[in-house]
Amino acid sequence: MKRIFSGVQPSGNPTIGNYLGAFKQFVELQHDADSAIYCVVDLHAITVPQDPAKLRKRSREIAQIYLACGVDPSKASIFIQSHVKEHAELGWLLQCMTYMGEANRMTQYKDKSEGKANVNVGLFTYPVLMAADILLYDATHVPVGDDQKQHIELTRDIAERFNNRFGETFVIPEPQIQEFGARIMALDEPTKKMSKSAENEGSRIALLEDPAVFKKKIMRAVTDTENEIRFDEENKPGVSNLLTLYSLYADESVESLVNRYQGQGYGTLKKDLVEVMTDKMGAIQKRFRELDDQTELDRILKQGADQAREIAEKTVNRVKDAMGFVRI
Ligand code: AMP
Ligand code: TRP
Repeated sequence: MKRIFSGVQPSGNPTIGNYLGAFKQFVELQHDADSAIYCVVDLHAITVPQDPAKLRKRSREIAQIYLACGVDPSKASIFIQSHVKEHAELGWLLQCMTYMGEANRMTQYKDKSEGKANVNVGLFTYPVLMAADILLYDATHVPVGDDQKQHIELTRDIAERFNNRFGETFVIPEPQIQEFGARIMALDEPTKKMSKSAENEGSRIALLEDPAVFKKKIMRAVTDTENEIRFDEENKPGVSNLLTLYSLYADESVESLVNRYQGQGYGTLKKDLVEVMTDKMGAIQKRFRELDDQTELDRILKQGADQAREIAEKTVNRVKDAMGFVRI
């Protein structure tokens, strides 16, 4: 049985990196899996300070984006993490199965905590909550971008340790990371990942951004002085990132693009890329606006939470029985 699980945090504005690394895969995978569950991980978002009104708005917005990108609620469950209490419960049980040394090695924690004066304990234990998210549903495949690979490895280690100590309880999940597009780079600094929380707005393109705004960002995207269109991530990270975007949005191989644009300047490549992106993003943005019906969205989220809870309750009972908790 192939069961997909993944989650996106309702913090910041989702970028085209989130789309190409995550949402786009979610849609493709819902068709070839036996079941798919997509979560809005609000409990993860509060590991950094959140404004309550914005958190509420963004949580619904992520669900609306899942739908706008093409996730079909008759094929996949969509729900909000905090609506299924078992996430927090299993999160605690698994914290007691995770070593400090393991959690300490997580590079995302190091990146997110570096230079910050007040880092909360939740940011440190966050990968364990992510492990709970995945293991609750016996997920076999977890589609994510490259930056989440280490967290999935930790999830596997925790699950294997648990199974060895208490008997077969968890399914060991596989990360599902695309070979291409798992790491969309920042436009201003193409050696860094495009992030929804980076300081410079020009570094990223929001999924719901106006074409007039993202056009400027693409036209200003950092390239190099060579003026030769070639895919070479090490020596030409900017041009390679643009070619990656183009290839993914136009469904055309990089090889074919490189051939087609031989002898042309970066300006032409950028201009054409904007056109392709405007088309694809425009369709998602249109669906997003059409779905702006809170009653219907809440109905889908409630249905998704009910479906998720049914699985999650069973898993937590199995875990508690294995660990020796009294059940009456
Ligand atoms: P986050 O923005 O950290 O909540 O990430 C949500 C999902 O999008 C995760 O699966 C990430 O791995 C993926 N993702 C985030 N940024 C990028 C990026 N620049 N390129 C590809 N995937 C990304
Ligand atoms: N940690 C992931 C991120 O920041 C989000 C996430 C939380 C997730 N729980 C998950 C992704 C479970 C996949 C599966 O992007």
